[in-house]
Amino acid sequence: MSIQKIVSLNFRNLESQEIELSSGINLFIGSNGMGKTNFLEAIYTACHSSSFRTHQTQNLLNFRNEDFELSPTKVQAIFKEDHVLRKLEWIQNSEKKWLQLDGKKISAKKVKNKFPVILFSPESLRCIKEEASKRRELIDTAMSYEPRRQQLITDFKKCLKQRNKALKDYSKDPTENLRSVAEQFSQVFIGLSFKLSHERILFLKDLRKAFEQAYKSLFVNCESACMNYKINEELSINPQTYDLKESQKLMEVLTEQYYKYCKIEYQTAFSLWGAHKHDISFLVDEKDSKTYCSQGQQRGLILSFKIAEVETRIEQHNQTPILLLDDVMSELDKLRRQHLLEYLENSSAQVVITTTDEKEYISGTLKPQKIYNIFNGKLTPIHT
Ligand SMILES: Nc1ncnc2c1ncn2[C@@H]1O[C@H](COP(=O)(O)OP(=O)(O)OP(=O)(O)O)[C@@H](O)[C@H]1O
Ligand SMILES: [Mg+2]
Repeated sequence: MSIQKIVSLNFRNLESQEIELSSGINLFIGSNGMGKTNFLEAIYTACHSSSFRTHQTQNLLNFRNEDFELSPTKVQAIFKEDHVLRKLEWIQNSEKKWLQLDGKKISAKKVKNKFPVILFSPESLRCIKEEASKRRELIDTAMSYEPRRQQLITDFKKCLKQRNKALKDYSKDPTENLRSVAEQFSQVFIGLSFKLSHERILFLKDLRKAFEQAYKSLFVNCESACMNYKINEELSINPQTYDLKESQKLMEVLTEQYYKYCKIEYQTAFSLWGAHKHDISFLVDEKDSKTYCSQGQQRGLILSFKIAEVETRIEQHNQTPILLLDDVMSELDKLRRQHLLEYLENSSAQVVITTTDEKEYISGTLKPQKIYNIFNGKLTPIHT
């Protein structure tokens, strides 16, 4: 699957225009503030029905547009799948937003799994540097292309909310009845915490080989990287050796945590253990990347994770995602840049890259099939 064409109308600073894309490598060159990230955001928003930069879709509307009823904001993505063209549209006026596939309204949930887009942006580095929630989000987003896993994440979040409410109700009014309600939610919560942790570990297990290989080829065998699933300070699970015995241990630990925190949870009215507290450790030479790694190494780790996502989908799910790379080269040295270019050149994925410095790409081994210059939101093709 690849995007043949993007049509943007009143999206941020982008001029209303039609942009043809190649199914290989597409390069967008422009100075700071010209609209490069906006263009990737337009593609991502159409495919995910949400932006990676803001939860408030009002921010995506071009603030110079005076009449959104007459001329709503729209991103049209024309996809080619098995020789069939499909038209996906994300539309927003001043009041509401909606999606259309081939002219018919469709829910965001259905679209999310249909048009796979994987993004690397400078913000992706926050997954390494910041709190555990960013790493959980990284893995949950990556594995939610499978509807079964997406449903599990939704069920878990709902149950967490319900359990917290039940704990709060009991803390305010400690009757037997309310305690029994809280206990019922706790039993479901143990089960869902186990299932979600189990799926996350299996997902990491699937990704592991491609991740380690990507990191090794970027960093030329000089160091090794891996990912562990961390339940708490005492227990980290290595996905590679995860088996039935370990999964039983996981269930035991969650049950133990339930009993351990039970009393205090009735006072704090908040779930103090469970899949919403877990973490993913990115390790380089067995040391935690958060405190040990340089900026370039951290970038390499996240980039390897994204490359592994692409490769795993191609190999195991026969799905070719579209890789969006926003300003990916900063902080990488010449050799790492060269290895990244080699990977991109050999990849079967459609790639959309933005850069402020065309020399990073054009003088290397990479041969972008389409190159655009971007100036104040206007994209102009450069003929190679
Ligand atoms: N809703 C909007 N309507 C119109 N213009 C907007 C809107 N939101 C942001 N902009 C403009 O878009 C520009 C930023 O675009 P973008 O973030 O894509 O830049 P960029 O080319 O990626 O720059 P950099 O290289 O610094 O990352 C800014 O000049 C900003 O004023
Ligand atoms: Mg940018």
